[in-house]
Amino acid sequence: MYNLRNRHFLTLLDFSQKEINFFLDLARDLKRAKYTGTEQQKLKGKNIALIFEKASTRTRCAFEVAAYDQGAHVTYLGPSGSQIGKKESTADTARVLGRMFDGIEYRGFGQEIVESLAKHSGVPVWNGLTNEAHPTQILADFLTIQEHTDKPLNKVIFTYAGDGRNNMANSLMIGAAKMGMDFRIVAPKELFPEEALVAQCKEIAEKSGAKITITEDVQEGVKGADFIYTDVWVSMGEPDEVWAKRINMLKPYQVNKEMMDMTGNSNVKFMHCLPAFHDLDTIVGREIHEKFGLDSMEVTDEVFESEASIVFDEAENRMHTIKAVMVATLGA
Ligand code: CP
Ligand code: NVA
Repeated sequence: MYNLRNRHFLTLLDFSQKEINFFLDLARDLKRAKYTGTEQQKLKGKNIALIFEKASTRTRCAFEVAAYDQGAHVTYLGPSGSQIGKKESTADTARVLGRMFDGIEYRGFGQEIVESLAKHSGVPVWNGLTNEAHPTQILADFLTIQEHTDKPLNKVIFTYAGDGRNNMANSLMIGAAKMGMDFRIVAPKELFPEEALVAQCKEIAEKSGAKITITEDVQEGVKGADFIYTDVWVSMGEPDEVWAKRINMLKPYQVNKEMMDMTGNSNVKFMHCLPAFHDLDTIVGREIHEKFGLDSMEVTDEVFESEASIVFDEAENRMHTIKAVMVATLGA
């Protein structure tokens, strides 16, 4: 049993393999309890602030539903709904919210903002995505992997294809290093993760038995993969001007049937944190289509809609894992 009470959840670097397993086990228990009608409310009477400086569907809904299931109340502060960083420093906002709330979720820009909230608020702070990290997503992804394979995480071959420098690539690499996975990033050199983070993850890997490979070579990167993961080519907060360059650089790293077949594993699964540009059914998707002629970007519609795709299981598991994070750090 692990006591994670009053801990912040800012990056998986702060947690041991055993603690990450504790979150995953708790999430599984909470999921089972919800489906069997035996859920017990551990957050009764707690008040939770949800700060979203960037848009969200999954993360916001996961925090809200998880909080309500557990008997807590939430206050949503949207991109223009608070003074944070505009008329009031993060440190001051943190001290104010800490006087009213029992826990604070933050989604927005630099990792230093969520760290400052944690430093000054006096209550648990949870990272709901920053430019650098998206750690709650990793718990959902790992729970989903466990649900779709009999292999333990340290026997899983996992390939991330696409923008290797963004929050998802960073956090997946940290999580994989902690859990002892065979983890590969396939990306163009310009979009390899920062060297300092790779070095840090390789050091973690020495202890956990993980293998970290960063390569431009798609064939090498996907060979034998059990799971292929991708994310958007341009992340929230990045300027529109980068689209043209990214499309050019990342086209060879699109997850399509050819890439899935290249794994040599007929059981390979497709994963994506979502939202995904796989068809023309979005405003941005249509704009990109008009400008660059692409029908899909990081993943083809064929793969996204295939039997191999487990993206909606991941989306659901955001809720169970975020619930686990809140219960573990704040539960009565
Ligand atoms: N995966 C994820 O974080 O989705 P949202 O941006 O909808 O929260
Ligand atoms: N890299 C993406 C992840 C969205 C969940 C972004 O930051 O926009």
